[in-house]
Amino acid sequence: MIASSRTALRQAASKQFTVKTGARAASAWANLPQGPPDAILGITEAYKADSNSEKINLGVGAYRDDKGKPFVLPSVKQAEKKVVESSLDKEYAGITGVPGFTKAALQLAYGPDSTPLKEGRIVITQSISGTGALRIGGAFLERFYPGAKTIYIPNPSWANHNAVFKDSGLKVEKYRYYNKDTIGLDFDGMVADIKGMPKGSIVLLHACAHNPTGVDPTEEQWVKIAEAVKEGEHFPFFDMAYQGFASGDTNKDAFALRHFIKEGLRPVLAQSFAKNMGLYGERVGAFSVVCESTEEKKRVDSQIKILVRPLYSNPPIHGARIASEILNDPALNKQWLGEVKNMADRIITMRALLKENLEKLGSKHDWSHITSQIGMFAYTGLKPEQMDVLAKEHSVYATKDGRISVAGITSGNVKRLAEAIYKVTG
Ligand SMILES: Cc1ncc(COP(=O)(O)O)c(C=O)c1O
Repeated sequence: MIASSRTALRQAASKQFTVKTGARAASAWANLPQGPPDAILGITEAYKADSNSEKINLGVGAYRDDKGKPFVLPSVKQAEKKVVESSLDKEYAGITGVPGFTKAALQLAYGPDSTPLKEGRIVITQSISGTGALRIGGAFLERFYPGAKTIYIPNPSWANHNAVFKDSGLKVEKYRYYNKDTIGLDFDGMVADIKGMPKGSIVLLHACAHNPTGVDPTEEQWVKIAEAVKEGEHFPFFDMAYQGFASGDTNKDAFALRHFIKEGLRPVLAQSFAKNMGLYGERVGAFSVVCESTEEKKRVDSQIKILVRPLYSNPPIHGARIASEILNDPALNKQWLGEVKNMADRIITMRALLKENLEKLGSKHDWSHITSQIGMFAYTGLKPEQMDVLAKEHSVYATKDGRISVAGITSGNVKRLAEAIYKVTG
């Protein structure tokens, strides 16, 4: 009796998936709606389809050398050679990754003099680059943060922040950040919004080289921002995807994070080694939590492991071993710091050249923001319609919000780029 009713149920269920003709089962995804394409990938497609030999792609946030080619850092090549030659096995790492890497990642971010680091009260886990670190952080806060599960991100912010935190189950709100009239920081708006947030809110801060605007607070402004965060008893979440890439100095770029800690705040941090080591596709990153005590650290560490295990069990080892060599070998480390500075300097030079070329052409606009902004991106202030004309008439591709990847500018294309921008902006 029971068995036969089960069979009847199964038959009824399978009928729902049968096309009326009875010839073929309908797909489970028959009614799945089409999702919108990824904005950045769309730009790359359009760029690839363009036959103009002088086309320029300023959409993707990846470093290019002065010939416009992807760049593998010499220190990375050497470190990789060492890793391969040491013929290590390919056994699984622990849940929290390669210990030599995570230990050194802590030193790089927090600095060797960091009090919580010296006191051994920072939890760290290796992650699938910066995105994975943000996702672990989002999931950890969603599960355990005792206050309201709302995270405030700057307006605008890296396009993926909203999706990462929403998918982690957090509510996402925005705080003022960018002033489109000055093409600079809306510092007063930012501080007012932080002060206006409900007590104990989670605040996402770009540690340096804000994406997409390239607009960073000054050190004096960071001091005030820390005061506002402290006053509101808010919880700081730092996203540091560009340490060293902004100024060329890894210590300078960590100022905000380290200042917050000096002020007694206990943030969480997402680190990425995609940009500063050019390890994009190797997916090397880390998520860390500054705790109050070593006893608290143990509890947090146990929960991070419980959270990571069903997500991906344990992280990939190859990229982390490369990063570990670079961070732990004094000679390689020195070489890498020089290479980071060279990348940052090339970007700073391209900013100056673009501005200079625009001025030479007689542009009446004020382009000083191009050189005052920092990091991989420049927010040009160009409107979506102007970005369309840049693409259609000049084969210059970048996102509609007017953001250009300065890493895609070379001494060979900067003149043509300036001419295109000049024609579009008048
Ligand atoms: C602000 C910011 N955070 C995080 C990331 C994460 O990058 P990845 O996952 O490649 O490390 C990026 C990459 O562009 C970024 O700009």
